[in-house]
Amino acid sequence: MAEELAQKENEAVVSCLLAIETSCDETGVAVFDLSSGAPELIAEEISSQIELHKLYGGVVPELASREHLKALPLLTNKLMSDHSLALTQLRAIAVTQGPGLKGCLLMGIGFAQGLSLAHGIPLLGVNHVEGHALSAQMDNRALQPPYLVLIVSGGHTEIHLVHGVGRYELVARTIDDAAGEAFDKSANLLQFEYPGGPKLAALADTVSASRFALPRVMRESAGFSFSGLKTAIALRIREQGKEAETPAVRAELAHAIQAAIVDALVFKIKHAISVTGVRTIAICGGVAANRALRAELNAMPGVDLYAPTVEHCMDNAAMIGYAGALRILAGAATLAAPAVLDPRARWPIEEL
Ligand code: KG4
Ligand code: ZN
Repeated sequence: MAEELAQKENEAVVSCLLAIETSCDETGVAVFDLSSGAPELIAEEISSQIELHKLYGGVVPELASREHLKALPLLTNKLMSDHSLALTQLRAIAVTQGPGLKGCLLMGIGFAQGLSLAHGIPLLGVNHVEGHALSAQMDNRALQPPYLVLIVSGGHTEIHLVHGVGRYELVARTIDDAAGEAFDKSANLLQFEYPGGPKLAALADTVSASRFALPRVMRESAGFSFSGLKTAIALRIREQGKEAETPAVRAELAHAIQAAIVDALVFKIKHAISVTGVRTIAICGGVAANRALRAELNAMPGVDLYAPTVEHCMDNAAMIGYAGALRILAGAATLAAPAVLDPRARWPIEEL
């Protein structure tokens, strides 16, 4: 009886969107309801591969692809059956087309293409970075363009001026490492288990000052660079020898590392504000979870700061579904079934 009722209720939901994310080491699936004219997240599932890659100190692309292949049918089936949803209720499938690891992208695309072809469901390729860029809007409906978005993750560090869906103006981008990579590589030097970024940040927050000074790089240009910092960090740690393993020195090194990375991000945000005159800021991506970064940005006078929930700062399918849904609802996406998508390992969002 209860099942019949749930089925009846769901028959009213004629306009659902299934979203799939497999660009790196998280398998994500999500479902949105588009019937109200605004995307409403019904449910999402995420499966992290951290435990697997920990053994190797970083993401192993071949293993990541295999895990996506295993997780995708299980997560999708769970999501659909837990919410009494049927494939016939899907108006479209949104899948991450890039940027990301090619083999990983292929798993999500292959799975989505299979569903699309078998059930005649239109397929839409979504840019992963656009997903991050719009994720703060997904979780804060008060946030509207124009705003500056700082996307800081293990793979990306860039600032864009968001004019609207699909309209992004590049303000700054890293010329080498990403901020999350700088956190993770430094954490590795301090003997933290992968991914060490959040652990290094937690240790850094246990002290309020550091005896160590690290260089502030790329002051004169809009872009980011973290490779010089990485070298300086490696040198400081080496200089300390065995001392670097003592809790006090380790905490102060972590504090200095976090301060240097956060300083670079905050400095460039201030530069972006002065160039664009836009004072509404969104921060997205894994590093947006960093407490020190949020505290510094929050302390900036006259700035409105937005961020997605901590879960949506990390890679997830909800942000892919949200970006796809906004495109569909704005009439910006042509939905044709079945579609064939090529993975795009490199895909800057200003090319959208
Ligand atoms: O967005 P995300 O889940 O995956 C990528 O697309 O990369 O971001 C993961 C990155 C990792 O580099 C991780 O170390 C970093 O975000 N991260 C943090 C914190 N939480 C996650 N870095 C600094 N402080 C944190 N609290
Ligand atoms: Zn990401």
